[in-house]
Amino acid sequence: MLDSKTIEIIKATVPVLEIHGETITKTFYQTMFKNHPELLNVFNHANQRQGKQPTALANAVYAAAAHIDRLEEILPVVKGIAQKHRALGIQPEHYPIVGQNLLAAIKTVLGDAATDEIIDAWAKAYGVIADVFISVEADMYNQAEEKQGGWRGFRRFVVDRKVQESEVISSFYLIPEDGGEISTYLPGQYITVRVKPDHQEFTHLRHYSLSASPGHPYYRITVKREDAINDQPAGIVSSYLHQEVNEGDILEISAPAGEFTLDQSKENPVVLISGGVGLTPMVSMLETLLENETKQDITFIHAARSGKYHALKEHITDLDRKYDQLRSYVIYESPAAGEPCDKTGFIDLPWLKTVVDSGADFYFCGPTPFMRAVNLALKEWSIPKDRTHFEFFGPAGSLN
Ligand SMILES: Cc1cc2nc3c(=O)[nH]c(=O)nc-3n(C[C@H](O)[C@H](O)[C@H](O)COP(=O)(O)OP(=O)(O)OC[C@H]3O[C@@H](n4cnc5c(N)ncnc54)[C@H](O)[C@@H]3O)c2cc1C
Ligand code: HEM
Repeated sequence: MLDSKTIEIIKATVPVLEIHGETITKTFYQTMFKNHPELLNVFNHANQRQGKQPTALANAVYAAAAHIDRLEEILPVVKGIAQKHRALGIQPEHYPIVGQNLLAAIKTVLGDAATDEIIDAWAKAYGVIADVFISVEADMYNQAEEKQGGWRGFRRFVVDRKVQESEVISSFYLIPEDGGEISTYLPGQYITVRVKPDHQEFTHLRHYSLSASPGHPYYRITVKREDAINDQPAGIVSSYLHQEVNEGDILEISAPAGEFTLDQSKENPVVLISGGVGLTPMVSMLETLLENETKQDITFIHAARSGKYHALKEHITDLDRKYDQLRSYVIYESPAAGEPCDKTGFIDLPWLKTVVDSGADFYFCGPTPFMRAVNLALKEWSIPKDRTHFEFFGPAGSLN
C-alpha cells in the first residue's frame, strides 16, 4: 500500500502529466524501442505511427494514477486492457522495462519540475499499478490454459478453409495443427493472430473477432483487406492473410479473449448493429442466440458501402427466412443502381425508432465514426449505458 504522502504527490501531479501526456508517452516509446527493439515484435507499428497507442496508454496510466487509492473502481477498465495484454503474450518481466522508460520520459519532458520526490512517488505508484495488471493477467493466463481445449501462449493452427465473403472480406476456418480440442469462447470474443511475413523484419499481432457461434471444431475469423489508399500504406496483416495465406498454411493463435460479450442471462429484445467488417462479433452473437432457441426478439442491422462490400449477406438472409423472431435490415451508403436495401445513406435515430424497441440491449461495432453516430443516437433516445455494448476494432478510444 502507498503512504499518504506518495498518494498526495501522485494526485497533485496527475494534471501536470496529463498536460504533457502524449509528449511523455511518445518520448517513452521512442526510448523504449531504442533500448528494447525486440518489443517491436509485439507493438502495432501502425497504431504507433498514428498516435493511437500513445494516447491509449497515457490515458490508462493517468486514470490509474488518479484512482491510486481506490484501484478497484477501475478494475473493469484494467480487465479490458489485461485481456489484450494476455492475448498478445505480455509477461511480468516486461513491466519493469515499461516502468523504467516511462519514468525516464517523465524526467526528460518535465525537466527540473520532476523533483526526486515526484519521480520516487511515480516509481512507487507505477509499481502498484503494474502489480495489479500482472496479477489480473496471471489469472487470465491460467484460465485460458486450464479451460478444456485451452492453452497458454500461441498455438499453431492450420487454415482449413478460406472463403471469400465480399470484394474485400474473407473468412478463415482454423483448426489446431496438433489435432486436439479447442477451447470454447463467448460470442463477441476475439482471437489473436501472430504472423511473420517474409518481407517483414518483425512479427505482427492482430486481434480478430470470432465470427461464428462457439461449439464448432474450428475457429472462424472474417477479415477485411486494408488496401493502400493515397499515401496510406496497405495494412500489414490483413494484406498478408488475403494475399499470402492459403488453405493448408499455418497461423499462430492465442486463446480467445475479450470482455465484449453477449449477456445471455437476459430476456429482453436484442439489437445487433454493425458497420462494415464490424459485423463479425454480431454474427457470432446472432448464431448463438438462434442456436440456443432464445425467445428474444432479435434485430440485425448491417451497414455497408454497397452490395459489393456486403459480407455474409446470404447467410443472414437465410437465417432471417428461417427464424420468426429475427428481423434483419440492410443500409447501403451508396447502393449500385437498382440494388435493394432497407435504407440508403447512414443510420439515424428517426429510422432506428421505426425498426427497434427501446427496451432492447444494443450491441454495436464498426468504424469509429459509425460507432459515434450509433452511440449518439442511443444517447438521444435515452437508452441507459448498461444496455449499450460496443467494441472498438483498434485501441479502445472515446465515442464522444
Ligand atoms: C478486438 C478487435 C477485434 C477485431 N476484429 C476484426 C475482425 O473481425 N475483422 C477484421 O477485419 N478486423 C478486425 N479487427 C482489426 C484488426 O485487428 C486489424 O487492426 C486490421 O486487420 C488491420 O490490420 P493490418 O495489419 O492489416 O493493418 P495495419 O498495418 O495495422 O494498419 C492499419 C491501418 O493503418 C494504416 N496505416 C499504416 N501505417 C500508416 C501510416 N504511416 N500513416 C497512415 N496510415 C497508416 C493502414 O493503411 C491501415 O489502414 C479487430 C480489432 C480488434 C481490436
Ligand atoms: C501499467 C502498465 C500498463 C498500462 C497502464 C498499459 C495500458 C495499455 C492500454 C490502455 C492499451 C490499449 C488497450 C486497447 O487496445 O484498448 C495497451 C495495449 C498494449 N500494451 Fe499495455 N499497458 C501497460 C503495460 C504494458 C507492458 C509492460 C507491455 C509490454 C511491453 C505492454 C504492451 C502493450 C501492447 C503490445 C499493446 C497493444 C497495443 C498496440 O500494439 O497498439 N503494455 N496497454
